[in-house]
Amino acid sequence: METATAPRRVEHQQTDKGYVPVYTTAVVEQPWDSYSADDHATWSTLYQRQRALLEGRASREFLQAQDEMGMNAHMIPRFDQLNEVLGAATGWTLVGVEGLLPELDFFDHLANRRFPVTWWIRRPDQIDYIAEPDMFHDLFGHVPLLMNPVFADYMAAYGRGGVKAHAIGPEALQHLTRLYWYTVEFGLINTDEGLRIYGAGIVSSKGESLYSLESAAPNRIGFDLERIMRTRYRIDTFQKTYFVIDSYEQLMQATAPDFTPIYAALEPQEHLPAGQVQDGDRVFHQGTGEGWADGGDV
Ligand code: PHE
Ligand code: FE
Repeated sequence: METATAPRRVEHQQTDKGYVPVYTTAVVEQPWDSYSADDHATWSTLYQRQRALLEGRASREFLQAQDEMGMNAHMIPRFDQLNEVLGAATGWTLVGVEGLLPELDFFDHLANRRFPVTWWIRRPDQIDYIAEPDMFHDLFGHVPLLMNPVFADYMAAYGRGGVKAHAIGPEALQHLTRLYWYTVEFGLINTDEGLRIYGAGIVSSKGESLYSLESAAPNRIGFDLERIMRTRYRIDTFQKTYFVIDSYEQLMQATAPDFTPIYAALEPQEHLPAGQVQDGDRVFHQGTGEGWADGGDV
């Protein structure tokens, strides 16, 4: 029997640009009945471990939203059940996908309040690390904050901004992608109780949940739109710098202006290394840089 355990890797194809991935764009029904006992056990293990770790580390809104949506350690959630709660709260819908989508398809989904969720979950031997997004990252990490009206609007605005940046050109897209990386994926938020995590790339990782808040190595710097857009990032190691928002409203307000003139102004400026601290930065913590890899910023 074909089970859902083996992730369907994106296919690759030989082209004149070399061996490139062929992304699958189709929206698929979540094949819930095909999840194996191992798949449910992987969800359970990860859910329990991360929830225990994230109490007092993740943003309160994030943890409350998971509970409100009815996510739990018992079994892999059904997208259609989550959709009833999510749709009523903010009008978002989860759609199942095989994996990463072409950029424009991804932006179009977001602009229309559809969040693509990878339907398959990592194998048991990939519990601690998987290079590509799986259901645990997408569902556990990204979906809860879509219950928050402000964050939900931010994500849809990002999708519309993505369609626009795509039309402007690759530099605009690169600047916008950094904003997504340093907020949606790796963002921290400043609260009365201290810094908390809201980025999906952090909350879905045991190692980075600890590192991002507790390690002395990385920089923690106040959110600044243009500063972030100029900053390279890491895809193969923990981040060298985390950016800290004061509130989701701040994120929404700072990103409300038309980015077209901002992209134009940024184009001649040099890109900043991932670990650099600059004059004008609001420094919450200046990283020691201990253990940082040389090179490799994208
Ligand atoms: N205001 C941005 C633009 O005009 C769109 C955007 C909104 C991008 C929110 C990201 C987040 O391009
Ligand atoms: Fe992600």
